[in-house]
Amino acid sequence: MGKILVLYYSKGGNTRKMANYIAEGAKEIQDIEIRVKSVMEATREDVYWCDGMAVGSPTQLGTVAADMKKFWEDLLPDWQKIDGKIGCAFSSQGGWGGGAELTCQALLTILMNFGFLVFGVTDYSGHQFTSHYGATQAGEPRLEKEIESCRRLGKRLAEWVAIYFNGRKELHPLNKLYKRNPWD
Ligand SMILES: Cc1cc2nc3c(=O)[nH]c(=O)nc-3n(C[C@H](O)[C@H](O)[C@H](O)COP(=O)(O)O)c2cc1C
Repeated sequence: MGKILVLYYSKGGNTRKMANYIAEGAKEIQDIEIRVKSVMEATREDVYWCDGMAVGSPTQLGTVAADMKKFWEDLLPDWQKIDGKIGCAFSSQGGWGGGAELTCQALLTILMNFGFLVFGVTDYSGHQFTSHYGATQAGEPRLEKEIESCRRLGKRLAEWVAIYFNGRKELHPLNKLYKRNPWD
């Protein structure tokens, strides 16, 4: 069974809502165990436990919130012991153009530093809406395409975990038997 940790920091609740939608998406794939935890609740054991992580932070001053950065700084003794997990990022910003993609890139950089294999999503969850560098929102996800972009990130994470940790090759996005988009 594949194991996923959705790790987030949220000051006002928006990033937490994203985390819950991401977990919903991951649940669409069978035989995946999921933990959703804030940086206040999660421990290093949760990181060791998982095969894949979705990591989310509000955009603060154009980058990762200090509480999330501290979680990873505190994990430094575990550096070189958690290589090879699959990682992706998500962020809520105050408004479009506020820097959420920069925050996702900064989160992915942290994960890469720990040896994670990181990914983006090529699918569109709605008109002119995608998550190439991770799921991004302005405030909380409200519109269906916004909610769906979070679900898709979680689902794709679960797919990659299932493929690479459980050998379920049929879930690969390039496998035509597996429909990626409702309009396929
Ligand atoms: C200290 C601080 C800095 C912020 N900096 C930015 C920013 O650079 N760009 C932006 O779009 N929003 C910024 N915001 C707004 C938050 O990103 C936004 O309200 C987000 O939805 C909060 O997510 P949360 O409810 O999970 O905390 C900032 C908020 C705080 C508290």
